[in-house]
Amino acid sequence: MLTVADYPTDVEELNRRREQSWIARSPRGYEIYGYSEGNAVLREPRFNKAASWLYRLDELGVTDGPVRHAWERNLTTIEGKDRIRLRRSLTPQFSPKRIREMGDSVRQIVSGLLDELDTSETVDLISQVCRLLPARTYCHMVDVPLDLDKLVAHFSDDILGPLFTVDTTRRDDHITTHHEATEWIESQVEARRRNPGDDFISALVGQASEGLLSDEELIQQALLILTGSVDNTMHQAGLVLGTLLEDPAYWQRLVSDPALVPKAVEELFRWRPRFGTIFRQATEPVDLQGIRVAEGEYVFVSVRAAHRDPRVFDDPDQLRLDREPGEPLMFGNGPYRCLGQHLARLEITELLRAMVERYPRARLSAPWRRVDSDAVTEVDFLRADLKG
Ligand code: HEM
Repeated sequence: MLTVADYPTDVEELNRRREQSWIARSPRGYEIYGYSEGNAVLREPRFNKAASWLYRLDELGVTDGPVRHAWERNLTTIEGKDRIRLRRSLTPQFSPKRIREMGDSVRQIVSGLLDELDTSETVDLISQVCRLLPARTYCHMVDVPLDLDKLVAHFSDDILGPLFTVDTTRRDDHITTHHEATEWIESQVEARRRNPGDDFISALVGQASEGLLSDEELIQQALLILTGSVDNTMHQAGLVLGTLLEDPAYWQRLVSDPALVPKAVEELFRWRPRFGTIFRQATEPVDLQGIRVAEGEYVFVSVRAAHRDPRVFDDPDQLRLDREPGEPLMFGNGPYRCLGQHLARLEITELLRAMVERYPRARLSAPWRRVDSDAVTEVDFLRADLKG
C-alpha cells in the first residue's frame, strides 16, 4: 500500500496517487482515492460520521463550553437509534417531491435577485447572487421576510465557514455567531408555538408537541438546517459559474443549448466539487478489500480524486457539459448523505438557467479566485460583466 505524509488539494497530484493505489496509509489514518472504494466507505454502516464533526471542532479549538455542548447534541454528532429518529424528522421536508414543489418559488427568487442587479457595473456574483439565493430560499422555507437574507447568510457563513476551513482565526466568530443564531432560532420557535404556520420550523414544532423531539432537539434540528442552507450552496454555485464564465466557449454552449443545463450542473459538481474530503471513523474492525482498518481509525475519502477516476468516468480530466451524469460523492452517501442535495441542485440549476438566458454575453471582469482546503473549496472572488 502507498504511504503518504501529506494531504494535497491539487487534482494532478491526487491523480498521480490514485494511479499508484486506490488507498494510502497517512499519519491521520487512510486516504481513499478511488471512486467505487470511496463510495463503499461512505455507505458502510460500520464507519461512523459523528467523530468527523468533533474532529473538525477540535481542530478549530472549540473543545468545551456551550457551543461544543450544543454540537454534541446535533444530528451530525449523534449516532444509533436517536440519529435515525432525528434524521427521519427532517427527511420528509427534503424529499424530491417536496423540493420539486418549490420549483416556482426558487425561480421567482432567482428572478428577483437578478432584477436587483445593476448590470451597468461589474457584479460581485458571490455576495450579490450566490450568497443571497440560498439565504432567500431558506427564508421562504421558514416563512420569514426575504430581506432577512443577509442575516441568514451571516449565520451560516460564520458558523460553517470557520469549521470547514479550520480557520482558527475565525474561532470566535464561530462561537459568537452560534449563540446569535441559536437565539434567533429560539425566537422563531416561540413565534410558531403561538401562531403555527405551514413552514419548516412549524413542522418541527408540531413534531415536538407530539413528543417526537425534545425542546433541545427541536432547536438543534432547526439550527442545523439554517446553517446547512447557505454556505455549501453558495460556494458550489460560485464554482459552477466561475468555471463556465472563465471559458466563453462553455458559456456559449449553454446559451445555444440551454436544455444542457441540468447535465452541465452535474458535470460541474464532478469537476469542481465543493467538498474535497469526507471522512468516517471505524466503530469496529473493517476489511477494505483485504486491508484491515482497526476500530477507531479514520478513513478520508478524497472526493477530488474519486471524481477523476478513469474506471468510472471516461476521459475524466475533460470537462464535458453533456456527459451522462454519474452520482457525485460530494454530497456524501449512505446513512449520512446530504439531506439538502435536491434543494441545492434545484437552486443552482435554476440560477444557471436564468443566467444563460438573461446574460448570453456575460464574462469575467477579472480572474476569479478559489481557495482549496482539505475539506472544501471556497470561491473568494468572482466578478463578472453580465452584459459582456
Ligand atoms: C451544494 C451544496 C451542498 C453540498 C456540497 C453539501 C454537502 C454535504 C455533505 C458532504 C454532507 C455529509 C454527507 C456524508 O458525510 O455522507 C452533508 C450533510 C448534510 N447536508 Fe448538505 N450539502 C449541500 C447543501 C445542503 C443544503 C441546501 C441543506 C439544507 C437546506 C443541507 C443539509 C444537510 C444536512 C442536514 C446534512 C446532515 C445529514 C446527516 O447527517 O444525516 N445541505 N451535506
